[in-house]
Amino acid sequence: MNLLAGKRIVLGVSGGIAAYKAVEVCRLLVDAGAHVMPVLTGGATRFVGRATFDALASERARMSLFDEEDPIPHTTLGQTADCVVVAPATARVIGSYAAGISSDLLTATLVATRAPVVVCPAMHTEMWEHPAVAANIATLVGRGVHIVGPESGHLAGGDEGAGRLSPPANIAAAVNRVLEARRQPSDMDGLSVVVTAGGTREPIDPVRYIGNRSSGKQGHALADEAVSRGAQVTIVTTVDRPAPPGAAVVRVDTAAQMAEATAAAAAGADVVVMAAAVADFRPVAPVGVKLKKRDGAPAVHLEPTPDILAALGASKPPGQILVGFAAETCDLVRNAAAKLRDKGADYIVANDVTAQGAGFACETNEVLVLSSDGRVHSIGLRSKRQVAQAVLDLVVADRVAQTAQQENQ
Ligand code: CTP
Repeated sequence: MNLLAGKRIVLGVSGGIAAYKAVEVCRLLVDAGAHVMPVLTGGATRFVGRATFDALASERARMSLFDEEDPIPHTTLGQTADCVVVAPATARVIGSYAAGISSDLLTATLVATRAPVVVCPAMHTEMWEHPAVAANIATLVGRGVHIVGPESGHLAGGDEGAGRLSPPANIAAAVNRVLEARRQPSDMDGLSVVVTAGGTREPIDPVRYIGNRSSGKQGHALADEAVSRGAQVTIVTTVDRPAPPGAAVVRVDTAAQMAEATAAAAAGADVVVMAAAVADFRPVAPVGVKLKKRDGAPAVHLEPTPDILAALGASKPPGQILVGFAAETCDLVRNAAAKLRDKGADYIVANDVTAQGAGFACETNEVLVLSSDGRVHSIGLRSKRQVAQAVLDLVVADRVAQTAQQENQ
C-alpha cells in the first residue's frame, strides 16, 4: 500500500558522493505523491546542485538555519514532517545527531522532530567500521531511528567494501514501511472503490457541446474521503480538480468514454459510486468542422447515451455495493425510488438541485439516501465532504454486515 501519498517528508542530503542518488530518492517520493521538503548541508551542494532539488521537490531546497521567509525553519520542518529521511547520511551528520548537536539546518531538524527518522549511511568502509561511527549508529538504533544500509560494493576512488548508499528504491520503500508501521487501521482499508465525478460533454462540433452544470465537487469529495479512510480509489472524472494523492485518475469527456472507463474499473471493485451527471442524450453525428452561423440554426439530432449505472446494476458482482445519485427538481423521493429500482443500485443519494445550499457548484449539499432494503436516511445541510463521509459510513456498515453474515454461514 502506498502510504507516501500526501505525506510530508523532509529529505536531508549530506555531503558525500552518493548525494547525486538523493535526486532519485526525491523523484521517487514525489512520484508516489509525497510532499518532499529538501534540506541540504553545505557539503551536499559540493556534489549536487541546489537547483536540482528546487526543480524536483515539492518545496525549494533549504540550507540555512536563518531563513528570511521562515525565522525558525528547523522547528517548522521537524514539526510538520511525517517522516525525516537522511540520504546519504555522512559520519558527521550521524555523529551530530547521536550527540544531539544541531549545528546546521539538517541536524537541527533531526533534533527538533518527533517524526520517525530514516538514516541511510554512505561513507568509506574505514569510516563505517570505525568504533565511533558504530557506537553512534547503535545509539540511534536504541532511540528507534531506522537505519537503511549501507550496502557493500564499489566505493568512490575505486575502493570496494561496505559503505555504499542503499538503492533509492529501497530507501523509498523503507520510508513507506516506516509510515505503514505507524498508521492506525482505517475502516476502508483494502477496499477498492470507483467514483465517477463531473458532467459529461457530448460534442456537437469541435467547439460546442451539450453539457450540464455539474462541478464534480461531490464526486471528488467522495474520492477524497475514501482515500483518507484507506481505500484504493479510481476516480473517473470530467473535471480538472485535484484528485487525492494515491488515487488513480481517469480523465474522460463523454458518456461513452465514462461508460468504458467505469466498466473496466468497476469489474473488480468492492464499491462503485456514480456521482457523475451523465448526459442522457448526445448528438447522433457530431460535425467534424465548426458549424458556421451564416448557415443558419442547425438541427441537432440526438440519441440516448448508455445508462452506465443501469448497466453496472445489471452485471453487479456478488458483494459489490453500487451507489447512484439522483439529481431532481421535484418529487424527490418518488423519482429517486424509481431510479433505485430501475437501475439495480443498492443506494441512491437523492438531492433536490434547486434547494438552497444544495446541488451543482455549491460547497454544501443536503440529501436523502434511499437504500434497496427500504431505509431512508436524511443527511441534512453540510459540506460535500461531510455528505461523502455520511454516505461512506452507510457503505462501510453494509460491508461489516456482509462480512458478519459470511462468517455465520
Ligand atoms: N446515470 C448513468 N448514465 C446515464 C445517466 C445517468 O449512469 N446515461 C447515473 C448517474 O450517474 C446517477 C444516476 O444514473 O448516478 C441518476 O442520474 P440522473 O441524471 O439523476 O437521472 P437519469 O437516470 O438521467 O434520469 P432523469 O434525467 O430522467 O432524471
